[in-house]
Amino acid sequence: MSIEVRNLVKQFTPGLAAVRGVTFRVEAGEMVGLLGPSGSGKTTLLRMIAGLEAPTSGVIFIGGRDVTRTPPQRRGVGVVFQHYALFQHMTVFDNIAFGLKVKRWPKSRVRERVAELLALVRLTGFEHRHPAELSGGQAQRVALARALAPEPGVLLLDEPFAAVDTKIRKELREWVRRVHEEVGITSIFVTHDQEEAFELADRVMVFHDGQIEQFGPPQQLWQAPATSFVASFVGDVNEVEAEAAGGFAKLGTLRLPLRHPARDGQRVKVLIRTTDISVSPHPQGAAGQAPPVSGAPDVPDVVDARVRRRVWKGAADVLYVELAGGVVLRAVVPREVALQVSPGAPVSLRILDYRTDPL
Ligand SMILES: Nc1ncnc2c1ncn2[C@@H]1O[C@H](COP(=O)(O)OP(=O)(O)OP(=O)(O)O)[C@@H](O)[C@H]1O
Ligand SMILES: [Mg+2]
Repeated sequence: MSIEVRNLVKQFTPGLAAVRGVTFRVEAGEMVGLLGPSGSGKTTLLRMIAGLEAPTSGVIFIGGRDVTRTPPQRRGVGVVFQHYALFQHMTVFDNIAFGLKVKRWPKSRVRERVAELLALVRLTGFEHRHPAELSGGQAQRVALARALAPEPGVLLLDEPFAAVDTKIRKELREWVRRVHEEVGITSIFVTHDQEEAFELADRVMVFHDGQIEQFGPPQQLWQAPATSFVASFVGDVNEVEAEAAGGFAKLGTLRLPLRHPARDGQRVKVLIRTTDISVSPHPQGAAGQAPPVSGAPDVPDVVDARVRRRVWKGAADVLYVELAGGVVLRAVVPREVALQVSPGAPVSLRILDYRTDPL
């Protein structure tokens, strides 16, 4: 079922809106990842769609039907929240069956549906356990089964795996996508983990200060960030202040042509993704005789720097490199480059792409 929201506002306290006039549409069967800083209004938005919070103004449609004043249990929405704990005194079976019993499903149908869901979440055989006898990942899968039991048209997940360790999280993530595809449900998924959002979602919504900064496919957010906020929020980005001079942003010896109009002497913001810095070791560096960083060659995009720190991360490593003038940038480099430089080694940098914005 599609979800449509028009001019949605939520004001908890006068003059201070948590959600400030939001309009969007999620198509039936789509999976949307919702990203944004803490306090930006993500949970409030989800709670309004679920009917757990009444909007101050605006309209919500689910499957084309205006549900703005419909009680939660009649919206056809399933929710999984991070802290939406299972009923501790009930077995896995009873937890999953809970919503079905409320709806007075006949016993045999309840049994069938619970068995089907346990198979879907790979927990067949766990029906008689209590939540205290489950791992965190298993408990969240039961929570998901419980949310899916009454066959909702929409599934809302609010940081469902925040409390689970990285490895299990990755498994759960793949598994949620599979469930999403098998059931064909429309989902909105809040996460603080960008990798999770970009891996799972058909489209990603970036929320900031109660408003949508951008809503589009992952590729669009990466390649065409709509705002300075999105450019600095998405991915791993160096954000540094620089001074405008003669159409350039001056970062020590590095001079980058300004991408926005600025007067000489004005402070500007420069955003450089860690993956947009190419680092080449100087041949002398390998011999251990690090020459001092040379004075400024006035080439805008190649500049000398020195390695400050090296971080081993696996497929790609991170170098902290210092430009003349003290600016330190983080660069993601291939393992073979990281192996050639140690702290103190001189290197050349090339900035492959960047963005400048007013401060
Ligand atoms: N019941 C409430 N009463 C008053 N203010 C609230 C209430 N719930 C949320 N807020 C405020 O609304 C704003 C948005 O909160 P919300 O929980 O939606 O943020 P969030 O994006 O989910 O943050 P997080 O990532 O930390 O979960 C915050 O400033 C918060 O303090
Ligand atoms: Mg929240």
